[in-house]
Amino acid sequence: MRVLSGIQPSGRLHLGNYFSMMRRMIDYQAKTDLFAFIASYHATTTVNEGAVLREGILNAAIDFLALGIDPDKCTFWVQSDVPEVTELAWILSTSITVSQLELAHSYKDKVAQGIVASAGLFSYPVLMAADILLFGAQKVPVGKDQKQHLEITRDIAQRFNNKYGEVFVVPEPDILKDTELVPGVDGRKMSKSYNNAIYFFADEKELKKSVMSIVTDSKGVQEAKDPDASVLFQIYSLFLDPAGREELADKFKTPGTGYGDLKKALLAQVLETFAPFRKRRADLLADIDSVMDQLQIGARKARAVAQPYLERAREATGLAYRKK
Ligand code: TRP
Repeated sequence: MRVLSGIQPSGRLHLGNYFSMMRRMIDYQAKTDLFAFIASYHATTTVNEGAVLREGILNAAIDFLALGIDPDKCTFWVQSDVPEVTELAWILSTSITVSQLELAHSYKDKVAQGIVASAGLFSYPVLMAADILLFGAQKVPVGKDQKQHLEITRDIAQRFNNKYGEVFVVPEPDILKDTELVPGVDGRKMSKSYNNAIYFFADEKELKKSVMSIVTDSKGVQEAKDPDASVLFQIYSLFLDPAGREELADKFKTPGTGYGDLKKALLAQVLETFAPFRKRRADLLADIDSVMDQLQIGARKARAVAQPYLERAREATGLAYRKK
């Protein structure tokens, strides 16, 4: 099965990104034909500075490679290294109406947040459809916020196929469940924009500060604590198997361990879990040439799949007029 997803190069990764998205990707990488890319074109709808985007792309690449995205086991590339996708986006743009795009929540939300309502931001879902259809993806794992974009993709694929014949695979969404959401230090969904994120590649001092700021009730050391009502328990549990979770729940329920101690233990756990990734990230930072090489190989692999799909679209639409 071919699984595809794109990730915007939007700054530092936090535990929410890791446990909801990255781990799912690594899992798919082991079990399916995974296509994963850094959505650099999409990022230009919000990033308006060359140096910032350049650095964002590179950092995202390094982070994903450090966390285990393996170019030998999947196809991993930077979106704008396969410019065929912009041609397909044009071709697809005539298979969706303006009024349908006007209904997109994501567009309206972004404009409400003050992002410039550019033509690019408006047609963002068309480019996303091109990302997916250009590679014949069957399944697309995304967060709930992208659900409507996938419906638009399916619509575009169906409408194109109806007009021109069966060219595109109509993809199935794989939407993350609410129960899989990771809470931030304040108990709301972990998100950069809520300022409640734990950035696992931060230095130890910053990490400690974030972990210590996880909200708790005011139960003292000698009181029993309720794990089911605890954000600290929820975050800590992400790192544990069922037996470890049992054990942690017992610690909560048995008087004698304070929240401060539990937070210290969580900090140690975070540091331990990410130590090998941190090491790999440092190695990659020290060898940017190898990162560039891996991205180039990835782009080549992606292009080899993209070009035949684009060619079929060109033929179906008549753009490839030299063909019979
Ligand atoms: N819009 C997605 C997001 O912000 C990123 C993205 C771009 C994407 N193209 C994609 C995700 C194609 C899945 C498939 O999260």
